Amino acid sequence: MSKEETIFEIIDLEKTYTISRGLFKDPQVINAVNKINFEVNHGETYSIVGESGCGKSTTAKMLLNIEEPTAGKIFFKGKDISKFSSEEWKEYRKKVQIIFQDPYSSLNPRWTVGQIIAEPLLLNTNMSQKEIEEKVYKIMERVGLREDWYDRYPHQFSGGQRQRIGIARALVLNPEVIVCDEPVSALDVSIQAQVLNLLLDLQDEFNLTYVFISHDLSVVEHISDRIMVMYFGDVVELSTVDELFASPKADYTRKLLSAIPTI
Ligand SMILES: Nc1ncnc2c1ncn2[C@@H]1O[C@H](COP(=O)(O)OP(=O)(O)OP(=O)(O)O)[C@@H](O)[C@H]1O
Ligand SMILES: [Mg+2]
Repeated sequence: MSKEETIFEIIDLEKTYTISRGLFKDPQVINAVNKINFEVNHGETYSIVGESGCGKSTTAKMLLNIEEPTAGKIFFKGKDISKFSSEEWKEYRKKVQIIFQDPYSSLNPRWTVGQIIAEPLLLNTNMSQKEIEEKVYKIMERVGLREDWYDRYPHQFSGGQRQRIGIARALVLNPEVIVCDEPVSALDVSIQAQVLNLLLDLQDEFNLTYVFISHDLSVVEHISDRIMVMYFGDVVELSTVDELFASPKADYTRKLLSAIPTI
């Protein structure tokens, strides 16, 4: 596969939410994402950065088909995902995975680690119980979770370990793309680097493409190939990481850069 293969092509993608405000007021329309355009290439880390509420997670949810776009198109490897057959959706749900910000609320507290990581295999494959267990143990080892933790529950782990569980779950179906929605924002700074390094190693090893969401430019500086900056639902900057840090185009990008503490 060539490095330059286009994984996602996003065209005029838009999401509005309409919130009812009771009988006597007009509903409020929120433009969460305004006709944005971008492309993600195979093997790259494509970061989406911007402050709270600018539309990052909404964009992620539309890529994952958790939210339906109000308008616009998402092409995955040249195919319009809104025209997928049920067979193509099945494949897409395996190939495109997500890791969430909050490893506390995104893991079912009543399930053991083994069950949490095994579930995507149960739902999406015909693997036997034994094959599933073997695969789960292998993935656990790869992300730095000890084998004998298989029967433990999420609350028995630290934040960083919990995020490793989320990563294992996202990896277990051998995806091509992982959308990482603020995967380290809830973690201590010392743990952030460990999880970012793990994600980078996994990207190399499994040939993964990342869409990486963060509100913090300093988090994405060392892991991104390209960065898209969003502001109130609009894209205000699309640059390679080097361009962005050397000569930012948008005033808003400059503002974000000036907020990075220097040592
Ligand atoms: N289900 C929803 N119903 C109504 N409004 C929503 C919904 N989801 C998101 N929004 C609104 O859409 C806008 C974009 O939200 P979104 O979650 O995409 O932002 P974000 O960039 O991910 O922010 P954060 O950094 O806080 O996670 C916000 O104004 C938000 O309040
Ligand atoms: Mg968000």
